[in-house]
Amino acid sequence: MHVLVIGAAGMIGRKLVASLLGSGHVNGHDITRLTLHDVIMPEQPQTTIPVDVKASDISVPHEANVLVASKPDLIFHLAAIVSGEAEANLELGYRVNFDGTRLLFDAIRIIGGEYCPRVVLASSLAVYGAPLPDVIDDTQHLTPLTSYGTQKAMAELLLADYSRRGVLDGIGIRLPTICVRPGLPNKAASGFFSGIIREPLNGQEAVLPVGDNVQHWFASPRSATEFLMHAASLDTALLGAQRNLMMPGVGATVGEQIDALRRIAGERAVRLIRREPNESIARIIAGWPRLFNPARAKALGFKAETSFDEIINIHIADVLGGVVKA
Ligand SMILES: NC(=O)c1ccc[n+]([C@@H]2O[C@H](COP(=O)([O-])OP(=O)(O)OC[C@H]3O[C@@H](n4cnc5c(N)ncnc54)[C@H](O)[C@@H]3O)[C@@H](O)[C@H]2O)c1
Repeated sequence: MHVLVIGAAGMIGRKLVASLLGSGHVNGHDITRLTLHDVIMPEQPQTTIPVDVKASDISVPHEANVLVASKPDLIFHLAAIVSGEAEANLELGYRVNFDGTRLLFDAIRIIGGEYCPRVVLASSLAVYGAPLPDVIDDTQHLTPLTSYGTQKAMAELLLADYSRRGVLDGIGIRLPTICVRPGLPNKAASGFFSGIIREPLNGQEAVLPVGDNVQHWFASPRSATEFLMHAASLDTALLGAQRNLMMPGVGATVGEQIDALRRIAGERAVRLIRREPNESIARIIAGWPRLFNPARAKALGFKAETSFDEIINIHIADVLGGVVKA
């Protein structure tokens, strides 16, 4: 099986590649070739599986045609401009998040014939927007309140239509906010949800731009990878016409996140969180979902953590090698 990962140099992309190479197969099929693509050159992994690494901009016409010319059987589409940057740069967000996706799907369509790869699209809970019920179920309408959420919703519709027409066999997974995001902060408006855990665990100060009662929906990077792998193996006949689905996660308020940090790393870690209200971030977050009842995804076998303590412990184990500096 030939697997193509687009957005392979990103946070989730790198973890997914490690997982694909660690397992060596998807849904009982050996991975015989892997192509890693991103606008920045992905790292060349050390493995016995043949791996091509490629750098180009997916939103430039013909780049997607070059990528799919070798007819990969499974495509993970993770490339995106994240929420804060898509809000700040309207043209860039629509070009990469929507035009890039359309160019990819059309490149698949143009090959035609029997070619119908499984396409796993990384969508987001940002497709939902206020007014929202306290608990969102699988029948909730999509009313995104950010350009990023709108771009993801448009990509989802395209995925569903191209699947209906037999161009591709798509599944869109709406990821919770992935926490704790390792490495440096990015331009996502949700970045502080990870920052207030990651920085204190490293003995560094973190900025909290919103109040303690802000509630949100989280899963670990480990779960994100497991969602993608499960989506790649799922029998899509079970999805019917609804090709996009919300993933399970943990609902927690900022206050509950901080309580979990206190239980695991103590008061010294909590004292490293500096409150600095930011109106623009608070406005974006106010339109975001808080809690879900993702019954469909659970029935289809998708699983996440069950507490925020578990999410922090996964970060300590997977990223910090068990060492907390606070
Ligand atoms: N991390 C989260 O909390 C979260 C939540 C919901 C959805 N998602 C979605 O999951 C996917 C992966 O997220 P992530 O956290 O790894 O993000 P990331 O920013 O770390 O990775 C995205 C990758 O896309 C690449 N990219 C950007 N523009 C590109 C272009 N024009 N052509 C090719 N590649 C390009 C970037 O270089 C980057 O490596 C994204 O689609 C994101 O929208 C993430």
